[in-house]
Parts: sequence; C-alpha cells; structure tokens
Amino acid sequence: MVAEPELRTSRLRLRRWREDDHEPFARLNADPEVVECLAGPLTRRESDDLIEKIEAGFEANGFGLWALEVSATGEFVGFTGLSRPAFKAHFTPAVEIGWRLARSAWGNGYATEAARAALDFGFDQAQLEEVVSFTAVANARSRAVMERIGMTRDPADDFDHPELSAGHPLRRHVLYRLARARRNALDAY
Ligand SMILES: CC(C)(COP(=O)(O)OP(=O)(O)OC[C@H]1O[C@@H](n2cnc3c(N)ncnc32)[C@H](O)[C@@H]1OP(=O)(O)O)[C@@H](O)C(=O)NCCC(=O)NCCS
Repeated sequence: MVAEPELRTSRLRLRRWREDDHEPFARLNADPEVVECLAGPLTRRESDDLIEKIEAGFEANGFGLWALEVSATGEFVGFTGLSRPAFKAHFTPAVEIGWRLARSAWGNGYATEAARAALDFGFDQAQLEEVVSFTAVANARSRAVMERIGMTRDPADDFDHPELSAGHPLRRHVLYRLARARRNALDAY
C-alpha cells in the first residue's frame, strides 16, 4: 500500500491535510446547509479533531478522506475519500466512501469526480472487494453521487444509525454498495 497517496483528476487534487485547511474546514462544518443531513454543526475544536482523526486513518489504512483542492485555484473545498466506519452494523467491517464539500463548491461535479478517483484507488491499489456508502434517507444530493458512481441500494440493507438515538430525524439510513466485479463491468464508469 502507498504510504502517502495523492490523487489527481482533471480538475482536482486529492491530498493529505495541511495546517491551512483547518480554518476553511471549520467554516464548512459550521454551515447549517452543509450539515443539514449530518449530526449537526461542529465547533472549531470538533472540526480540528476530525482532521486529526482523518490523518490517523491515513496512517492506519494507507487511504483516507482526502482533502480536496481545485487544481486551477488551489482552493480547499472539502473532502472525499475512503474510511472504515467505527460503529458496528450488519455490513461492517467495511470501507466507506464519503464526501463533504463547502456549499460554494456544490453543483460542479467535484464530489463525483473525486469519488471516482477514490474508488479507483480503493479497488486498484488497496485491493478492496467492496466499497459501501451510507447516508440519511433524505440526503438526496449524497445519494445522487452514489448513484452516479454506479453504487446500488437494496432496501433490505437500510439501517438505523447506531450513533443516533431513537426518534432522531436522521436515524434511518440507506446503504449503497459497489463490488469490484460490478465496477469492472461498468461501461460508463
Ligand atoms: C453530497 C455533496 C458532496 C454533493 O454535492 P453535489 O455538488 O451535489 O455533487 P457533485 O459534486 O457530484 O455535483 C453534481 C452536480 O454538479 C453538476 N455539474 C456541473 N458541472 C459539472 C461537470 N463539469 N461535471 C459533472 N457535473 C457537473 C451536475 O449536473 C450536478 O448538478 P445537479 O445537482 O443540479 O444535478 C454535497 O451536497 C455536500 O457536501 N453535502 C453535505 C455533506 C453531506 O451530506 N455529505 C454526505 C454525508 S453521507
């Protein structure tokens, strides 16, 4: 496995995190629109802790949630990448693909473009057999990314997120999967 993977797409650079990402990452984590389908806004401290956790994930796994930079401008716009869910569910242990972008960066196809590069890394470099993704049922934008990259959902896989309490409006989650064999067979991948 590559120790410090950095990925490039036609418009994006997926790289390890830097000190100057902390401020814009905290800003997007405090934006009510960005966190609408997540467990709520993060404080600066929580946002910084998340970067630390992500970086530890790179060391442990050889992949992670890459900081996402627009190549043309060098602007940090969020993250996309692979991680291992820490909670137990019917589909774990697993590797999850996920994304979180600043509101100003939505609507450009960046999440989808970065996700394809992360999937390539997961299947071709990390030799994963399957990648999953999950989100609150109502998170239509995130589900659209999953569908654009060829992931499929079986309603029988839907689950209650174990870290959200009973009655929490975001508790019910959908699970999408993509197996290496299916991805290899996708024409328009
Ligand atoms: C989920 C999230 C990353 C999706 O962002 P997004 O901008 O909708 O997704 P993409 O980056 O793939 O962009 C797709 C859109 O860009 C448009 N687009 C514009 N130019 C494009 C281009 N050159 N190539 C591809 N798509 C392009 C597409 O038509 C599509 O628009 P639409 O939404 O009107 O159909 C974003 O909403 C987000 O960060 N949400 C908050 C965090 C979150 O919920 N994360 C998931 C938790 S599980």
